[in-house]
Amino acid sequence: MCGIIGYIGSRQATPLLIGGLRKLEYRGYDSAGVSVLDPAAGGPSRVVRCRGKLGNLEEKLKAEPAAGTVGIGHTRWATHGRPSDENSHPHKVGPISVIHNGIIENHLQLRAELVAGGSHFSSETDTEIFAHLVERQLVEGAESLTIAVRKALQKVRGSYAFVVMSDKEPGTLVAAKNSSPLVIGLGEGENFIASDVTAILAETRKVIFIDEGEIVTVTRDKVEITDLEGKPKKREPKIITWSAVQAEKGGFKHYMLKEIHEQPRAVADTLVGRIDLENDDVNLDGVNLDVKNIKRIVFIACGTSYHASMVGEFLVEALARIPVEVDLASEFRYRDPIIGPGDLVVAVSQSGETLDTMEAIREAKKKGATVLAISNVIESSIPRLADHAFYTHAGPEIGVASTKAFTTQLVAIALLAIHLGRRTNALSRERARELLAELVQLPHKMKEVTDQGAHLQVLARRYGHAHGFLFLGRGSQYPIALEGALKLKEISYIHAEGYAAGEMKHGPIALIDDKLPVVVLVPRGPSYEKTVSNLAEVRARQGKVLAIATRGDQDIGGHSDDVVLVADTALELQPNLTVLPLQMLSYYVADQRGTDVDQPRNLAKSVTVE
Ligand code: AGP
Repeated sequence: MCGIIGYIGSRQATPLLIGGLRKLEYRGYDSAGVSVLDPAAGGPSRVVRCRGKLGNLEEKLKAEPAAGTVGIGHTRWATHGRPSDENSHPHKVGPISVIHNGIIENHLQLRAELVAGGSHFSSETDTEIFAHLVERQLVEGAESLTIAVRKALQKVRGSYAFVVMSDKEPGTLVAAKNSSPLVIGLGEGENFIASDVTAILAETRKVIFIDEGEIVTVTRDKVEITDLEGKPKKREPKIITWSAVQAEKGGFKHYMLKEIHEQPRAVADTLVGRIDLENDDVNLDGVNLDVKNIKRIVFIACGTSYHASMVGEFLVEALARIPVEVDLASEFRYRDPIIGPGDLVVAVSQSGETLDTMEAIREAKKKGATVLAISNVIESSIPRLADHAFYTHAGPEIGVASTKAFTTQLVAIALLAIHLGRRTNALSRERARELLAELVQLPHKMKEVTDQGAHLQVLARRYGHAHGFLFLGRGSQYPIALEGALKLKEISYIHAEGYAAGEMKHGPIALIDDKLPVVVLVPRGPSYEKTVSNLAEVRARQGKVLAIATRGDQDIGGHSDDVVLVADTALELQPNLTVLPLQMLSYYVADQRGTDVDQPRNLAKSVTVE
């Protein structure tokens, strides 16, 4: 999730681009860059870009000023190609400068075709491919930049918001959208292009939201919208009334709530380019594991990532039949673990900077194990320390309480389990096909749950005054119970415990009375009956039961005080749906209590101490 911006008018573009990028830096901060054109002076655009935060670029622009009244700017969240100067945007090929937010799915195939056709690449990114495609269309005679962009888009599959500038057509900027956000800001004798309104709110409140499959041709006096066939589209501008802070949160009250609602897209982005429906298989972005010689898998992680790893134990053992252990990273090295060659250690970390996990990796490597990192931050310390890296694509997670990173970790681990299962032959093509089909539908089913905000708000009001909560689940729902309890503790400061439902009668049942809400994860599946009997044990002690169950379950209402229903899906993927009501319940309870939801007391987004 990168930040893009464009300006065309009579004012100097660079300060406006930098001002906008500062507002977009929450979207990514691996590198930044601008390309600026001076139509009056003529001549090529000046590209200034570099690795690191926006401050680095501002420093560089002092030494290499970029003058001109037309320009594009970008702040990067790396997905394809590590953070570096060469991989920074804008990418320039011939007269064409391009910035991009999204992922070109068929980038490997397009790159091969372009190289075969004589193109030379200077970066590892998928984005540079589009610059070559547009430049080639112009060389082959496209009458305008808009037409060249339209033709180039016919070859591209994936998510994108592109902005393209040409030295040959200095009075025009062309942008295109497919699933990544894109807005046009309307000014007097000037216009803006941006990922979201945050970047332009200081300059204009009059915006046009661009829809899927649309191309926008922007000059300083006019904005034209067409579709991929060239047909003109009409769109009325909207007046934005949000404050700048509100805008950065996309109109949501907190980053956490925004990130809860971003999960369907984050999961979709994490699936992009990895599902091979033709072969009923999964590719891990070229990660080549010696599967035949993996004797055991050991997950190491902390906090929410540890809970994702616990679900991983169920997934990998069920789908690949490889024995799995899950270790708290902070405990791992201090117990002198028996580990070595033949062991695959999977280190899971959103930030990629958690020191406990890094030290555990060092211990594992010292003893000869192979390490695969699953992280959300490209080139962060943990992926660099590991032998292999596989990334989630949740985009920057600002709220300290992890939400979208968790559900993308669950999906990344499911992809890993299917990949391993196909290579240990424990997973048949037919079963893999079913699971992949369910994975593809998951974003839609997740949205159905995140749309139940009003219901969860009512439940938060009903139970939010309690002094404690108990979360219960069986099988892969047990880690989800732990995750629900952790979310509530982190942001509402209410003491909560997650427990294996079958374990309740061995102790915590003593806690139950009519003042203790008990959240029970009871989706359909092999543990359903057993979990319902645990639920009955709670109600027998006047405990208040909030059940998270599967849509179509006619009976669960009779066994509980309140119910939240999620869609049915494959057993292995249920955690991606059942965790959502728990995140939302915690959010609304905390919001009603007025705690600092995004920056809870005593916590840090990345724990870099042991
Ligand atoms: C989760 O909401 C917390 N922020 C925390 O438990 C977190 O999961 C833990 O610190 C691990 O962080 P990581 O995934 O960045 O390694």
